[in-house]
Amino acid sequence: MKPYRVLCVCLGNICRSPTAEEVLRHILKQHHLNIVVDSAGTSNYHPNATPDSRSQAHAKRRGYDLSMLKARQIKLNDWVDFDLILAMDLDNLKDLKRLQQQAVLSFKDVPLAKLALMTEHDLTQIKQPIADPYYGGDDGFERVLNQCESASHAWATYFKQQHIG
Ligand code: 4NP
Repeated sequence: MKPYRVLCVCLGNICRSPTAEEVLRHILKQHHLNIVVDSAGTSNYHPNATPDSRSQAHAKRRGYDLSMLKARQIKLNDWVDFDLILAMDLDNLKDLKRLQQQAVLSFKDVPLAKLALMTEHDLTQIKQPIADPYYGGDDGFERVLNQCESASHAWATYFKQQHIG
């Protein structure tokens, strides 16, 4: 059976969503869940770029290697290829809802990915945005990691409850 597939999405796909991708992949693996994780950006600002060096450095200190990841823009077909799309913040969610409407019109009668916030089921930060660290300092990058780790544990619990993966 095809594994369940999750796509993490932010604006640039160089800070938050690659961090979310690697952290979620790592934590789902710890929970022995067979789920594929990828990431993309709503923009095409940084095509094929590796994650921001600050994101990489902060992640590395916690044991996450982001160096192999490459930025890409979300495409309409991702709604067919993935089971769940996770928005990092409310702007991402708004942009993704627009794209979802296009997908509904383009792929009639094909099951499409569900859409949720990264923090959807995390009781410690329920539906809180993962703030963009791009123009800020070190604390912003640490906060992204803290939020992604907490949210990923919540998703692992949710997937187990739903018998996904
Ligand atoms: P991300 O952060 O959406 O978390 O990847 C950003 C990266 C780049 C830009 C904005 C946000 N930018 O404007 O280039």
